[in-house]
Amino acid sequence: MTSRTRTKPTVIITAGATAEPIDPVRLITNRSSGKMGMALLRESLRRGYPTILVHGLLSVPLPQGRYRAIEATTARDMLRTLLRLRPGNKILIMAAAVSDFRPSRARTGKIKRTPRGLTLRLLPNPDILATLSRRHPPLVTVGFAAETGRLISRGRAKFIRKGLDLLLANEVGRPGSGFSADRSRAVLLAKDRPPRNLGILPKREIAGILFDELERLIPVSPAPSRGTRTV
Ligand code: CTP
Repeated sequence: MTSRTRTKPTVIITAGATAEPIDPVRLITNRSSGKMGMALLRESLRRGYPTILVHGLLSVPLPQGRYRAIEATTARDMLRTLLRLRPGNKILIMAAAVSDFRPSRARTGKIKRTPRGLTLRLLPNPDILATLSRRHPPLVTVGFAAETGRLISRGRAKFIRKGLDLLLANEVGRPGSGFSADRSRAVLLAKDRPPRNLGILPKREIAGILFDELERLIPVSPAPSRGTRTV
């Protein structure tokens, strides 16, 4: 055994779908199941990182293990929660599918059926990743891009716009890849490297590849091992 162990930075993983209330019974949400986020959570715990999960709606159960889980359902809740966690010296993996729009106001009473139809005004939500990388630059920022085609060019545009270190562009909208599926067709983008086409892989394997890439990027500082004295 070596006398030096390594301190691992905290990993914050966001997962699932955010949901914006229209009224007490209706929501604007998306098809994210949370499977990719859960695969990342398991991988993070397996590798021994202190891990915090911030999640929206999930259609899969939370895994067992030692981690903190915080529910944040709307995009604005998720942003507030992440700011409170001070992501500055942490790794942030944004696997949550965030609603880009919210109703201009959530009605307190149920909207009743009317033959006239209904027009909802939607306002833009904050871009959580872009806000955090501007205000509290995390050690490493990992984003996902849900795309229905042109994975590399659209992924690259998001990578640059959001100031990321890693981005996994994955194909959604086709059976067998993306939302709710156990696998994803994905391309990994990293700084100063050509895009890496991963093909269609189980989300568990994609999580492993992402953590391998993360460990190439993070500064890992040595910490005193048990029994070592500091003076
Ligand atoms: N994201 C975010 N805040 C938002 C929207 C998205 O932080 N309001 C994050 C997602 O968690 C993901 C990345 O940004 O890691 C890309 O999300 P995606 O939905 O693919 O892209 P958008 O920025 O929403 O752009 P568009 O929907 O126009 O493709």
